[in-house]
Amino acid sequence: MGKYMRTLKTLREIALEHSNVEQPDLASMARELGRVVHQDSQALAKRLTPLRNRQHGFERWLLAERSKPAISVLVMAWPPNHLTPVHDHAGLWGLEVTLLGALEVQSYARDPVSGTLRMQGRDWLGPGDGTWFEGDENHAHRCRNLSNHDMALTLHVYGGDLTQFFAYEQVEPTGQWTSRLQRSTIAGRLQT
Ligand SMILES: [Fe+2]
Repeated sequence: MGKYMRTLKTLREIALEHSNVEQPDLASMARELGRVVHQDSQALAKRLTPLRNRQHGFERWLLAERSKPAISVLVMAWPPNHLTPVHDHAGLWGLEVTLLGALEVQSYARDPVSGTLRMQGRDWLGPGDGTWFEGDENHAHRCRNLSNHDMALTLHVYGGDLTQFFAYEQVEPTGQWTSRLQRSTIAGRLQT
């Protein structure tokens, strides 16, 4: 089996191993995943070519899942310019690392009383860069593929199965935030 087949397996193993405790050290998980992404960038690009060429819009692919301690690992495919709504992660901890391309991530904090969301910062994630959040129901973010013409691919690790979450939208002219429940779908399972 070529190296390009093993890289996804290595990322999967790192995610499973680091999350084998109730409160994983997300910074060190992100660092280790980032190191493999840098080291094996060509192999990874080759392995992910079928996902980049599918042209099926935004897709989530399952790489691993476990129930105790709960974790799900996904690869997401981002068409050029794809922008998510502002969304939460159902109170799960989470981590995302760019595999190919570049994303912008705007982080928000939600006031649990008023329901207002306030932007806290903005990060740009190139290959191997990561961002993470602890299990906080009031954390939200919005992500965008920064490229006008290339697909981006990212790796996501969550402390559970993120089947539903809330998307938030600011309604004019009052500027009030509304939320609606979203269900996430899986395009398929990735073999390693
Ligand atoms: Fe997210």
